[in-house]
Amino acid sequence: MNIAVIGGAGYIGSHAVKLLIERGHSVTAIDNLTMGHRAAVNSKARLVVMDCAHTAALAAIFQAHKIDAVMHFAASAYVGESVQDPRKYYRNNVSNTISMLDAMNLAGVKKLVFSSTCATYGEPQRVPITEDLPQNPISPYGQSKLMVEHILKDTAHAEGLAFAAPRYFNVAGSSLDGSIGEDHRPETHIIPIVLQVALGQRPAVDIFGNDYPTADGTCIRDYIHVWDLVDAHLVLLENLQPGRGLFYNLGVGRGYSVREIIEACRKVTGKTIPTRETARRPGDPPALFASPDRMAKDFSWKAKITDLNQIVDSAWRWFQANPNGYR
Ligand SMILES: NC(=O)c1ccc[n+]([C@@H]2O[C@H](COP(=O)([O-])OP(=O)(O)OC[C@H]3O[C@@H](n4cnc5c(N)ncnc54)[C@H](O)[C@@H]3O)[C@@H](O)[C@H]2O)c1
Repeated sequence: MNIAVIGGAGYIGSHAVKLLIERGHSVTAIDNLTMGHRAAVNSKARLVVMDCAHTAALAAIFQAHKIDAVMHFAASAYVGESVQDPRKYYRNNVSNTISMLDAMNLAGVKKLVFSSTCATYGEPQRVPITEDLPQNPISPYGQSKLMVEHILKDTAHAEGLAFAAPRYFNVAGSSLDGSIGEDHRPETHIIPIVLQVALGQRPAVDIFGNDYPTADGTCIRDYIHVWDLVDAHLVLLENLQPGRGLFYNLGVGRGYSVREIIEACRKVTGKTIPTRETARRPGDPPALFASPDRMAKDFSWKAKITDLNQIVDSAWRWFQANPNGYR
């Protein structure tokens, strides 16, 4: 297939580009490079540097490269920033996605996989989180992703769009061959932060809250390896149905605490990793992990790289080889 990967120079998008190329697809990566990195894009893909807000130019690219399907990873994705600057999030994640959908419609592209998030559930009533739980996001970021889910449903109804909106839990790790990795600036994800402490680039890891009702008092999250995550996108793409939306959690179905993550990083790196215990952050639920049952039941799909040490090891190998990221 001819696939456009929007946000293809970002962390997850660049892994999707690599996987799609390895599976024999023709890939056009589209990215405005505000957060992404040119060097992250596989050399066998075409990179077009542009903002997905530009409907006419984007439609022309879709037409020129006979695009069959779009994977849309482009977004602003910092929960805290979204509270401080909500309109940035509604503009980039909602308005610019609408412009992108207009381009798909103009060019007659009818297949889409869109990055949604477990942040759409807010503070869930129970864990594991199943897809039918109410979605009550507690940040503008989560709200913006839920708005797009609604827009996609209505667009599917009106125009016959076939789409999937996988809801990611915490995405982690790097491609297993070590060629690409995670380089967010600023970095807010725990595994890269702990590995930057291991590299001596930060003094200590902050543990936000040590009095949660969990076994060791720290927050529990579900970590899915980025390669599994992008593999699931292909499964969803192959199962799209005109006029319908597919909603699936992408997680492994078990959680690890902050202390367990730090311990795994100590084990993998062999480094002493100092920590600092600080106050809880508002809006951090004690435990969030997915029920992966719907993916398993409908597509016999399960994450394969579920060993925490292996996930950390893949990230560590990339960080060791690229201590300054893509810079
Ligand atoms: N990383 C996670 O753990 C996680 C969890 C849940 C959901 N998500 C979602 O997955 C997607 C990818 O996340 P990521 O971690 O790879 O983020 P990222 O910032 O590394 O990648 C996003 C890419 O999109 C590009 N971009 C942003 N706005 C654009 C625009 N208007 N036009 C063109 N390009 C634009 C950026 O330059 C960047 O390369 C996001 O939609 C995010 O909300 C990520």
